[in-house]
Amino acid sequence: MKQLTIGTSSLKASEISLGCMRMAGMEHKPTDALIRTSMDAGINFYDHADIYGGGKSEEVFAASIARLGIERDQLILQSKCGIRKGFFDFSKQHILSSVDAILTRLNTDYLDILLLHRPDTLVEPEEVAEAFTLLHDTGKVRTFGVSNHNPSQIQLLQNSLPYKLQVNQLQFSITNTGMLDHGLNVNMEIELSNDRDGSVLDYCRLNKITVQPWSPFQYGFFKGAYIGNPEFPELNACLEKMAEKYGVSVSAIAIAWILRHPARMQPIVGTTRVDRILEISAASDVEMSRPDWYELYRSAGNILP
Ligand SMILES: NC(=O)c1ccc[n+]([C@@H]2O[C@H](COP(=O)([O-])OP(=O)(O)OC[C@H]3O[C@@H](n4cnc5c(N)ncnc54)[C@H](OP(=O)(O)O)[C@@H]3O)[C@@H](O)[C@H]2O)c1
Repeated sequence: MKQLTIGTSSLKASEISLGCMRMAGMEHKPTDALIRTSMDAGINFYDHADIYGGGKSEEVFAASIARLGIERDQLILQSKCGIRKGFFDFSKQHILSSVDAILTRLNTDYLDILLLHRPDTLVEPEEVAEAFTLLHDTGKVRTFGVSNHNPSQIQLLQNSLPYKLQVNQLQFSITNTGMLDHGLNVNMEIELSNDRDGSVLDYCRLNKITVQPWSPFQYGFFKGAYIGNPEFPELNACLEKMAEKYGVSVSAIAIAWILRHPARMQPIVGTTRVDRILEISAASDVEMSRPDWYELYRSAGNILP
């Protein structure tokens, strides 16, 4: 598994990360097998959030790490806070208490990375700065980032923060390409030309912020997987053709398509299955050609000018 640098930090992470959102309902044995297999495949980065399973996902993960006897320094642990029932909360008090609860559930002294989960329009950047400084100075959090933020929201925070924001986690998959559609259709009178995110992908590249695509196998907002889905016949035919050509599974092609982008994105995959995490890991070895990348893009229903 190839590695990448997270932003401009000193963290060297596997270029594919395992997301733990769906771990809450898993039994001991399958969780142990999933984590062990992912690590054997070279994955060292695990994405959490305080709300996954109401905190249960972090506990299930930590219990498995203890059973497997995995040392803390073999793992890069990332979690998120800021989403509450019916509102978003980036207040100093909430950030601080959330991190304490996360550390308890993950059974660790520190987080490698803390992300603010979804923009809070009532954010006071100076308050966030105070919270981050305390977390950093007490050794509880080493690196910071955001999730689902646009460029000006990042700048607003960054202006007050003593630490560089190193990560922005965003929805992106072969069926969810809004981040790059508008850049391929600049100034045209078509729907694809609309920039809905302030050119966040270019902004992150320019500022060396690692983009982490979440739900890389889902279409819509958690509508289900597009792989093998009859709603996407052309895409699935193309995925199969590429899988045959590169000698990997269709799931690996879907991830290789993300990895091929020079933004050096770090997809967060959420499978709970050992066979799938093995297949997906093979994506790291695929060197996808430029024509094949564009053919897959078009097969998802996108048109080029
Ligand atoms: N920042 C945010 O706002 C945000 C939002 C959502 C998620 N996330 C992060 O992103 C991670 C991934 O999200 P996700 O679980 O929705 O991602 P995903 O990898 O797109 O979806 C995984 C789900 O798709 C199923 N699936 C069906 N066919 C599949 C195939 N061929 N290949 C792979 N999976 C297939 C999996 O089932 P099996 O388990 O049976 O394989 C699993 O239920 C989460 O764990 C979380 O860490 C972040």
